[in-house]
Amino acid sequence: MTTITLQDVEQLVLDVRHELVEWRRYFHANPELSFQERHTSQFVYDTLASLPNLELSRPTATSVMARLKGTGPGLVLALRADMDALPIHEENTFPFASQQDGVMHACGHDGHTAMLLATAKILSQMTAQFSGEVRFLFQHAEELFPGGAKEMVEAGVLDGVHRVLGIHLWAPLQVGKIGIRTGALLAAPDRFVIRIVGAGGHAAQPHLTVDSIAVAAQVVTNLQHVVARTVDPLDAMVLSITQIHGGTADNIIPGSVELRGTVRTFTSELRAQAPLTMERVIRGVTEAHGATYEFSYENGYRAVVNDEATTERLRKILTEGFGAEVVEEGVPTMGGEDFSAYQDKVPGTFFFVGAGNEAKGIVYPHHHPRFTVDEAALPIGVKSFVLAVLGFLNECE
Ligand code: NI
Repeated sequence: MTTITLQDVEQLVLDVRHELVEWRRYFHANPELSFQERHTSQFVYDTLASLPNLELSRPTATSVMARLKGTGPGLVLALRADMDALPIHEENTFPFASQQDGVMHACGHDGHTAMLLATAKILSQMTAQFSGEVRFLFQHAEELFPGGAKEMVEAGVLDGVHRVLGIHLWAPLQVGKIGIRTGALLAAPDRFVIRIVGAGGHAAQPHLTVDSIAVAAQVVTNLQHVVARTVDPLDAMVLSITQIHGGTADNIIPGSVELRGTVRTFTSELRAQAPLTMERVIRGVTEAHGATYEFSYENGYRAVVNDEATTERLRKILTEGFGAEVVEEGVPTMGGEDFSAYQDKVPGTFFFVGAGNEAKGIVYPHHHPRFTVDEAALPIGVKSFVLAVLGFLNECE
């Protein structure tokens, strides 16, 4: 194998920079919702088909996989990008704003797709520089449970894979920084529905009813104790009630009230405990007031937990490639990500590439109608992926 220098990699990234930004803007202008990424995945497929040495397939209707073999046997490293947009009406007014009314790339997945395409373009011409295989996973439907990652894993995209890496462009992190962390990075986003069942009646005769609204209010209040008083303050958990539905008129006490919300946890212990503690509270409060309840609880994605060996190896590669001042300790958040479906199968690391820029007014949070990324983040993501491939696939294991 010929040696490739850091300067060579930086030049290759520079060479692809124009196309990289063009691709991102194209995806941004043409967003598609989860499980509907037909046009996006076709564009990805066609672009990859124009590159040398890639073996393409369609694991599902709207996803694409590309395999790139290096020189001789070695590890198989998978790189993942998600491609779907969100049901949000874009309020940005730049020329490449969404052309699909009510659909928007408000999470940066347009950038993820462009970065992985650019990475494939660079590496497709460098097969003499690594052994083993790089597997590019262009995944559909990250935003909508049960998520595309699970379907791709079931379709066998990780068969033979040793490690998996994924990037999220991250607005809370300033451009020029990379956030990486061993252990829990993103939470398990679970959700619940509670129905408080009382006995409806005339608002002027509450004593003849079981007031589901008054009981629901007690349930909401008491559920706050679950986090505040049953969880170790050093562990993280969120319990948010986000919807209350009940009642039809000023003079009617409704027979039932529906509460909905989400629970976020990092550990499987807390995750398993949460619905049990919640139900104990709901049962006690409703019983105390003569009401009954229905409670359903649905597990979402598992928490994104980064493998230690993969993460520390990647941290070393990125620190050597970017400098210690660029690579920071990643800050965990209670958001969710279906990257965890890959980590269920093989060790993997999900990391943040800073995409916010206060000086440029790029300050809006993910999923906001004015969300965008600083495009200077895109080459950083590409360089990270290329360095990771060269680092992981040239190591002996
Ligand atoms: Ni996202």
